[in-house]
Amino acid sequence: MSLKDKILKALLDSKNVPISGEALAKENSVSRNAVWKAIRTLRSEGFEITSATNKGYCLVGGTDALSAAAVSCYLENRSLKVLTFDSIDSTNSEAKRIAGDNVTEPVLILAETQTGGRGRMGRSFFSPAKTGLYMSYLYRPEGSLSDSVAVTSAAAVAVVRAIKEVAGIDSGIKWVNDIYIGSKKVCGILTEAVTDIESGTAHCVIVGIGINVTTDDFPLELRTKAGALGTVKLDRNRLAAAVTNRLEALIKGLPERTFIDEYRRHSLVLGKQIVYKKNGRETAATAIGIDDNGALMVRNSDGTETTLNTGEISVRLRE
Ligand code: BTN
Repeated sequence: MSLKDKILKALLDSKNVPISGEALAKENSVSRNAVWKAIRTLRSEGFEITSATNKGYCLVGGTDALSAAAVSCYLENRSLKVLTFDSIDSTNSEAKRIAGDNVTEPVLILAETQTGGRGRMGRSFFSPAKTGLYMSYLYRPEGSLSDSVAVTSAAAVAVVRAIKEVAGIDSGIKWVNDIYIGSKKVCGILTEAVTDIESGTAHCVIVGIGINVTTDDFPLELRTKAGALGTVKLDRNRLAAAVTNRLEALIKGLPERTFIDEYRRHSLVLGKQIVYKKNGRETAATAIGIDDNGALMVRNSDGTETTLNTGEISVRLRE
């Protein structure tokens, strides 16, 4: 960890209690001048650090900048490897590249912006700088393949919980795993697996999550459908850590599907009239249930029932 990151961590850990330049210098075996330079860099990155004579430095408020050190401070799993990029094609693609290097421990990858953000069904994901959270969590699954499939629904629950915790906002899940506030989609999730062809199992699972935090300049085709958490900047480091904390806890409980009742409670489609597409045909139906693997059970207008494991549905959502 760089000196700058170590100092940031110390300031975050001290929770608004000032730390003297001398203490920071001593702790890191560097000169006070080196500490001052690191503080200057942090300030230029958007961290609001006050300094008072005889008291020391204090980090106030949130920050605009994504920072691995800041995310780590809020993580329950302090040893999780966190990588941040100013700009990258896609955090999921980076996770795939890392997965090729025989990773054994989980990795969290974050980017300020993505030049080729990817969504489900081959779509792109609008990922402008600074206003969103673009993250991928890479891990080696221990359980069955169905656990790896279920992780995508668990991730949706993790995001709903994190949004409530950090922004105080209630959100809902539109099957499979889009997160909505009112009638606007604020988050998309793309789960990918790097499979081992010989054993037919998932060697690595990548949970990619994109949250529009303050994004408002959506391209025309998204303007009526996409939204953001709000207009007030919130600390994306805290949000990234909150999602990760919830996700890691839910992954541990995947075999027991500990998340599924909460998923059902937050579902925006249960009991609603929907339209789904199967084999190129659109069918109107009623969403009647969500099974333990996150599949959607629907009753067609002729009374027959169908289980949808994947795909997309349309449903009318209230403003
Ligand atoms: C969707 O809505 O279709 C899913 C969107 C998933 C976007 C996230 S942003 C971080 C990660 N990297 C990507 O390229 N995609 C996911």
